[in-house]
Amino acid sequence: MPQFPFNQCYKYHSRTRDAYRSAGDGMEFKEIVMSRYATKKFDGRKLPEQKVNELFEIIRFAPSAVNLQPWKIKVVTDQKVKEQLKPATNDQEQVTTCSHLLVFCANPDFDSLLKKDEALMKKSGVPEETRNFIIGMIKGMTGKMTAEQKLCWAKSQLFLALGNAVNGAKSLGFDSCPMGGFNPDEYTRILKIPPPLVPTMLCPIGYAADKPMPKVRFAKEEIFF
Ligand SMILES: Cc1cc2nc3c(=O)[nH]c(=O)nc-3n(C[C@H](O)[C@H](O)[C@H](O)COP(=O)(O)O)c2cc1C
Repeated sequence: MPQFPFNQCYKYHSRTRDAYRSAGDGMEFKEIVMSRYATKKFDGRKLPEQKVNELFEIIRFAPSAVNLQPWKIKVVTDQKVKEQLKPATNDQEQVTTCSHLLVFCANPDFDSLLKKDEALMKKSGVPEETRNFIIGMIKGMTGKMTAEQKLCWAKSQLFLALGNAVNGAKSLGFDSCPMGGFNPDEYTRILKIPPPLVPTMLCPIGYAADKPMPKVRFAKEEIFF
């Protein structure tokens, strides 16, 4: 099996890394993870666009298998649309009280993603040998997948982006809630989500108007073995 040309990639990655090295002060990551909670009600205030854009950057940089980034995120801010979505969300009021509602959609169209990825790598100066290696590897991994397997794969990748969203929100001083309690077909209809995208998870963001419940977690010994 051909070896990954690491030496060629280092330059490409280090450029990005240096650009972001000075960012991200504030809370320690552990503190963010411990204090974030699934907010049940927001106070309706709008988040500053600059903060929202910072969160989008944190989400955008989420890892994914072979960097396919198989997700698209619909951003809903219109109050009337949010009201329409509430019944399709088991009447959960996070959807209407949040500032922005992020609808994480899985994207199983791997052929288009691969083309985009390839073009982007070329534009970013990734050497041809590395590009060919990566593209070959992705085709090898995904080429024989059924449509169902692709969707399942895309959905599981999407949860990493969602993880960035919930912890990222806290790091920027606001709140969020990961939500799976909604009707994807109704969301597709109301938001006119184009195929083959599949709404998979919601993440309303804003300022909390509730208090966190006590953290209930299994003991370390029950998890790690
Ligand atoms: C896949 C998934 C689906 C969830 N769906 C909902 C939901 O529909 N509504 C809600 O209020 N919380 C939802 N949650 C939040 C969980 O209930 C919450 O994360 C869990 O109870 C732990 O609480 P904490 O996040 O406040 O620590 C969901 C979480 C996950 C990961």
